[in-house]
Amino acid sequence: MKKAFRRVLSVLLAAALLCGGMMTADASYVDDSGAFRLSCTVNGDTATERGFCWYTKTDVPTAIRIFDGRADVTDSLTLADVTAQPWEGNFMHKVLVKGLTAGKEYGYTIEGDNGVAVTGTFRTDDGDDKVSFIGIADVQASSLENFLKGARTLNAGLEMNPDADFVANLGDFTNDSTNEEWDNYAEAFDSLNNAVTLAPISGNHDGLGVWHWFENMFCLDTSESVQNLNGVNYSFDYGNAHFAVLNTNDALSVSLMQLKWLYNDMRSTDKDWKIVFMHKSPYTLGKDGKWPDALYLKETLTRVCELTGVDLVMSGHDHQYLRTKSLKNNRVVEDGKGVTYVLSGTAGSKRYEVRDFMLGHFLTLDKLAALTVQKGGENDLGIPHQCYLEDGTLDHYDPNRIGGVFNNVTIDGGTLTLKSYVIKDLEEGETEDVITEIDSFTLTKETGKNKATYSGENKTSAFEYALGLLPSGLCLAIYTFGNWFPRFLCMLPKLIVTVVTKDIF
Ligand SMILES: [Fe+2]
Repeated sequence: MKKAFRRVLSVLLAAALLCGGMMTADASYVDDSGAFRLSCTVNGDTATERGFCWYTKTDVPTAIRIFDGRADVTDSLTLADVTAQPWEGNFMHKVLVKGLTAGKEYGYTIEGDNGVAVTGTFRTDDGDDKVSFIGIADVQASSLENFLKGARTLNAGLEMNPDADFVANLGDFTNDSTNEEWDNYAEAFDSLNNAVTLAPISGNHDGLGVWHWFENMFCLDTSESVQNLNGVNYSFDYGNAHFAVLNTNDALSVSLMQLKWLYNDMRSTDKDWKIVFMHKSPYTLGKDGKWPDALYLKETLTRVCELTGVDLVMSGHDHQYLRTKSLKNNRVVEDGKGVTYVLSGTAGSKRYEVRDFMLGHFLTLDKLAALTVQKGGENDLGIPHQCYLEDGTLDHYDPNRIGGVFNNVTIDGGTLTLKSYVIKDLEEGETEDVITEIDSFTLTKETGKNKATYSGENKTSAFEYALGLLPSGLCLAIYTFGNWFPRFLCMLPKLIVTVVTKDIF
């Protein structure tokens, strides 16, 4: 129904623009005067507001027009925080659209004096107790070819769930955050991003060492972000759920100030469900799961999540799919009243094997409910790279699990369901998509029980942030040398054997 609406709307908009003597074009990375890298993001109240960001090659005037069906309703809305400024050789445009009507499907165009227009659609939250979203992570591509593979994964998610309220991209949009990569990302993803609202999460490849890139690629609510140098933290409500987005580039990987922000943020909502999105993963068996930055989250962030009643944490970074059982204090809780952690798999084509040398040192299999390594082939010793968890073992092989992962999450009142899928890589000569469900689980709860227990301001000044850097660094250092390093030393013999025999690190 919604897809049909999108097609009809696109035709209507194109016809209207042509009648007005204007030319239309798709996202115009091919046209020096057109708009490209367009995104419609959550920003503030998801029932009445949206953030838009787009780029032009040169300083040409462009404007956004919002449509309710055929009617141009832009003049009845508020266009706030309008920004147009040069950024890294291009021009960045941002606007916060306010005054939208809840539960309505809108169309929009980005128009310039030269007549180029880009079209898209989005739907506002209708205020009921349902929400649905698609989670993807780690496209982390450079070439257009690999971005297109990631886009194929998201497209499969949107085909399966065309009524998704938003897409959560859990970070590492690109590999090196260069203009060329973001342009390739735009070419592959613009048509998908234009069809749905986006909730972007900063990954280490989007933020570290490329200051302000992430902040300048999207129009986000940065009013409570502890710092915007290498990512943004923000939160929003959708349906009966509250979502907090963390920046795990912050002080390698989370500062005390951001933990405090999360603590206050999660206590300030009375929504039934509390969900955290972030890039790095506290629970993983992938390549990066052995380093202190990710493992530090297991000693800090998990405590905040438990204290504030977070139900689900979704992350990326380690390019494999993994779900924990319900955990509290790093232990499995049988009553299900802990926190479930989902490492969301990669939507792209760079995938990590299991580092089983970590088992017993940083993670134990009994905490895991599901695991899929999306990688095929074998190493020089004939040991398969690809395996998945079943009945506590790690040696099952399924060629249909070699591909990109998307996660489909739906919340309906007191029931949250997450289903994760692999869309199999196309081999030469193959044309049919093969989509395999790799995980499915349901959380249930009694609704209407959460009470907001915090109502104060939740902002961090630049002075407070600077003041907190030293203690944040000290905490990480104490963890690294007091906890992580002794464990790493104990693990080292097994790690060396794995490097020698399996050629993975
Ligand atoms: Fe990453």
